[in-house]
Parts: sequence; structure tokens; C-alpha cells
Amino acid sequence: MPKNDLDSLWVRYIWKGVGVVVGSQWGDEGKGKFVSDLAQYNDIFVRSQGGPNSGHTVMVNGKKYAFHQVPSGAAFRKPSVMTAGMVVNPNLLYDEMQQVDDPSVVLIDSRIAVITRAHRALDGYGETNGTAIGTTRQGMGPAYESKANRRELITVRDLLDRQTLAEKVANYVHVHQAQLLEMGEIEKKTAEERARRELAPIEILSPANGIDEYCDSIVEELFGAGQKLAPHIAGDTSIMLQQFARSGKRILVEGAQGVLLDRDVGTVPYVTSSRTTAGATLADAGLSRYADRENGFWGVIKAYTTRVGGGPFPTELKNSTGELLRQKGLEFGTTTGRARRTGWFDAVATAYAIINGEILKGYLTKMDVLSAVKKPMICVAYEIDGKRTTQFPTDARVLERAIPVLEPAGRIERMNRRDIVNSGRKNGFNALPPNARAYIESVETLLRDLSGVPDFEISAVSIGPWKGQTVLK
Ligand code: IMP
Ligand code: MG
Repeated sequence: MPKNDLDSLWVRYIWKGVGVVVGSQWGDEGKGKFVSDLAQYNDIFVRSQGGPNSGHTVMVNGKKYAFHQVPSGAAFRKPSVMTAGMVVNPNLLYDEMQQVDDPSVVLIDSRIAVITRAHRALDGYGETNGTAIGTTRQGMGPAYESKANRRELITVRDLLDRQTLAEKVANYVHVHQAQLLEMGEIEKKTAEERARRELAPIEILSPANGIDEYCDSIVEELFGAGQKLAPHIAGDTSIMLQQFARSGKRILVEGAQGVLLDRDVGTVPYVTSSRTTAGATLADAGLSRYADRENGFWGVIKAYTTRVGGGPFPTELKNSTGELLRQKGLEFGTTTGRARRTGWFDAVATAYAIINGEILKGYLTKMDVLSAVKKPMICVAYEIDGKRTTQFPTDARVLERAIPVLEPAGRIERMNRRDIVNSGRKNGFNALPPNARAYIESVETLLRDLSGVPDFEISAVSIGPWKGQTVLK
């Protein structure tokens, strides 16, 4: 089959102007795969929130890329812009850029907040003092706190000016020195355990090292990174992006994490520190007005559910079926390597994400993985305190008490990817075996009914990790 057949199929779904893709569960739904499939139709890629906590996997032409901060479009040598709403770890960012053939496509807004080693230490501190969330320990929360409180904010622009950088780092470390010192003591005690778990040691503030040395080493580290990143740092990327949009370029804004991890509408407090809905992600890119209302609002939905870190997870499987999903789906964190918690598809939670995340089109992933399970189930409602409900509780403590109401689905057939993809070019979802088709239909109908969004549809189904292993409706 010539490649163009697939191309002409996607054309039906491709947005005019700006599109956005977000995760519709607790992250790791396969946003990188979505970007791979759509890369050739887009001129520019944008990341507008989150930072090194994210992990997006792109598999194309025999090569596997792991992106954290850089938009996945960089794998396709397309302009990849990071806007002001993000927070970044500059050294990791530089390393990450080196995976791509042409790092010059990456552009970094100078207003982005910088994560320092002290932010990372304080993130770790939060995880040890009884308020654990199960964060990625990348310093996300403390860096977004600095952004919100403004007084302690260090931006990418500051990386280029050693004097300003030194003042701001010293300010931050002095304000937080008590916690940083305490963290140093905790770290010493847990050093052995960290080594056992193969976690990188955090360089810490201790009375022996002294504050000045600690600050100096942070400044050196960040200034060095700033020098390396300097050619990629741009003042105000919004002007450029809006000009691109006006001139008719097609843009994809890549969300990170998932709607259920959104700081405001997710399963608070077990969430990330940024907004993860389609609306917020677009707004953070400064591109809302150019969004395609009909075809531009995509949610990636995994055919089952995973979650990494703490917090309620009603359909979690703590048994051999859960382990099977983890092994077959390679459910281990791209950022932390942690084993992801696994469970059945949850229509109640995902419908909530469709409403709050402003999602209209669904891209269903990992259908092939589900075929490993003998008797797949779908959660269609919850029972909470003896009452049946299809309303997702906004209080995490109530969600903890939710017992999933499960309905069986037929065993998903093993699929020959090549044959199905080929047949799918002509036959759409009819190329899929009957139980897979029925599963997709159940998911779509449930999500439509429970969300009350009548025009929501599952428009594409991914049956493998590589670009193009996808069937369109
Ligand atoms: P943080 O974003 O590192 O502060 O972590 C907060 C919560 O969000 C933790 O449960 C993390 O595991 C989760 N989280 C953050 N980023 C991602 C992601 O990209 N995928 C999945 N979970 C994430
Ligand atoms: Mg991920």
C-alpha cells in the first residue's frame, strides 16, 4: 500500500490551525505515539506546561526517543517551541536535545521558570515528611511555587547573567535553608536506601559544606547550562507562534500528564503542579483563538488505566492480572522507572476527564496489550457507601471509597498489526476483530453518555508502539 493512503485518511481528522492533545487519565496514555502519527501534518510543535516530570515516548524509523521537556515534534526535525508556562531543568534539557538529529529546532522562551537542585531537594523533602504525593522528585512543585510567589522566581533569562543568577539562587537558598538543612540530614540517613533503589543522590546543603559553597555550585551548574542553551533561548515565543498561526501554519500543542492530574480539577492533592486540560494547555501556549473547535481537541485514552505515584485509583488490580498488564504494556515510568499501578478501563473517571479536559476526539491506545488478558472488564459506575453513581467524586477521600461496578467484555483477539493496519486503510475500524470493535464501541458509548458530550468520538485506535500502527475510524 502506498503511504499516501494513510495520509489521505488522517486528512479527515486533521485540524485547521491549532490542535491540542492531552492525556485523558492519569498520564502515560501514549501522547508521544499520537504526536508520531500526526507529525507529518504539522509545521510546529509546542509544549506549554509541565517539565522534566513528563515522559513521552516516540518510536519512529527504528529509533526510540524519550522526551521529557522538549516537544516530541523535535524527533521529526520540526520547530519545537517551549512556552512560558513550563518549568525546566536546564542541564537535563540540554542532554535531552542531543537525542535528536537537529537540536537547532528547539526554541526556549526566556520567561520559563528554572528548577534548581534546591527545588529538587525540597520536592524530596515533601515526600518524606508525611505529606507524600509520590511525585517524580524533579522539583516540579517547588519550582511552580517559586513561579507563583514571584519573589523566588528564577527564569531562563537569568541563566545568561551570572550576577543575577547568583543573587536569586542565594535568595532562594537563604529563605529555605532550614528545610534544606533538614533535608540534608534526612538524605544522609536514607543514602543507603537511595543507593539500593538506584535513585540518584541529591547533593545537599549541610552545615559542613556551608551555604556559600552550596549556592556557588548551583550557580556554576546553571550558568554552564545557560551557556549551552543560549542559542535556543528566545525572548517572547508567543509573538512568533501567533504569527505562524496567522500565516496558516498547522500547530500541535502537546499536553503533558493527564487531566486527572490537573492541579485544579484532578484528584487533588494527588496531582501535578500545573494545569493539564486542553483549554489550559492551549491558553498557556497563547493560541486559544486559533484552535480548531471541531477537530482540534484531542484526548489520548489508554484501553486500560495506569497511575504512577499515590492517590485513589478505583479500578486498580493488585493481582496477577495487574502484573500481566504491567509486563505486556511495559508500564514502567519513562522518567522515574517506577512500576506503574495498573487497572481496568474506568469510564466514570475518563468521562470526567472529557468534561473537565474539554476533549472532543479520542485516540485510544494499547488495544493490542489488552489482548493478553483473558477476561477484560470495563468499569461503568461506582458504588460509594452503598449507593451506585456515575458521578466522579471531586473529593479524593470519597474516591478512595469507590468500588468499581465492572462489566465483562469479550477477550480481545490477538492482532496481526501489519494486516490490520493495511486493511484499516480501506475499512476503518471494521478491520479490527469483533471483540476489539465491541470494546471500542462500549468505551465510546459510555464516554459519550457519562460525559453528556454527544459529539465525542473515538476517532483512532493504536495497536502498537510504532508510528503508523494505528487504525482510523
Ligand atoms: P510531580 O509532577 O513530579 O509533582 O508529581 C505529581 C504526581 O503526578 C505524581 O503522582 C507523579 O507520578 C505524577 N506525574 C507527573 N508527571 C507525570 C507524567 O508525565 N506521567 C504520569 N504521571 C505523572
Ligand atoms: Mg509518560
